[in-house]
Amino acid sequence: MSELEGERAEHIPVLLQAVLEALQPQPGGKYIDLTVGAAGHARGILERSSPSGRLLALDADAEAVRYARSALSDLGERAVVRQGFFDEVARLAAEAGFVPAQGIVADLGLSSRQLESAERGFSFQAPGPLDMRLDRDRQETTAADLVNNLSESELATIFYRYGEERRSRAVARAIVRRRPIHTTLELAEVVARAIGGPRGRIHPATRVFMALRIAVNDELGALERMLPQAVEILAPGGRLAVISFHSLEDRIVKDFMRQEAKGCVCPPEAPVCVCGREPRLRVLTRRPVEPSAEECARNPRSRSAKLRVAEKLPAHSS
Ligand SMILES: C[S@@+](CC[C@H](N)C(=O)[O-])C[C@H]1O[C@@H](n2cnc3c(N)ncnc32)[C@H](O)[C@@H]1O
Repeated sequence: MSELEGERAEHIPVLLQAVLEALQPQPGGKYIDLTVGAAGHARGILERSSPSGRLLALDADAEAVRYARSALSDLGERAVVRQGFFDEVARLAAEAGFVPAQGIVADLGLSSRQLESAERGFSFQAPGPLDMRLDRDRQETTAADLVNNLSESELATIFYRYGEERRSRAVARAIVRRRPIHTTLELAEVVARAIGGPRGRIHPATRVFMALRIAVNDELGALERMLPQAVEILAPGGRLAVISFHSLEDRIVKDFMRQEAKGCVCPPEAPVCVCGREPRLRVLTRRPVEPSAEECARNPRSRSAKLRVAEKLPAHSS
């Protein structure tokens, strides 16, 4: 057993078969995994595209990159693993010779490894520093910086907007009274008191922790910047598959795919199109693909997953 195999939780890839059906990996194809994590989707794509398909695998997290390199090492040069944020994909893919690509997958959010690693600060159940950065070398601002330095109204806005937390103001007020707050458990306790008791099966701090993570890593901004780059570097007929885990992400993906399938961005009252924008995508999932009850039972993390897939149209010559 390698040192890496001995580490914590195994991450089970979500909607793996659906992603493979969407991308239809072929020998000789070039594919990009924007969120390699524990390399489950990456391995699936490389196995399906055997013997000559190649995959560029990105992750912002140095530990995920280290793990994925080791996990994919048996595939030699077919797997190219790089550390980077996915909103840099146009540059990273060009540098690695992966433009145009036949398929791109993004499996958003965090892996089980990250969530369960106390020292990363993502979990309200494990004692750790309030960090939450994906890339601890390139990012300066931690969750503790936000919690201890933002104003009460700025914190409330983050909890409301990114966590859809109904008691955002009460939570922000309680935090400001109690700070400085340095650890996950301190924050979880302050939030639980402000909210008052558990909410069904969900821990009361779930939404606040999610909101902070989204803010620390500018997750929604990164997604918005990544999507157009992914379309740009896809080959005609190439496919983009995105798995999201909450409604804010899914709305961004859905709206983007719809807009790219429509092309024209002229206001509806305009008598003729003046923008001249052509559709660039065909949406293949009118409704998002969701995991079966069996997958949810086997892998509870998959419960809220939604997969959307679109295909790049051939460019029109004008
Ligand atoms: C849900 S996991 C991916 C799991 C992977 N598909 C598998 O099968 O093991 C999401 C990964 O995306 C990475 N990630 C999140 N946001 C990112 C971003 N903006 N750029 C690059 N990687 C990111 C996280 O570090 C994490 O490793």
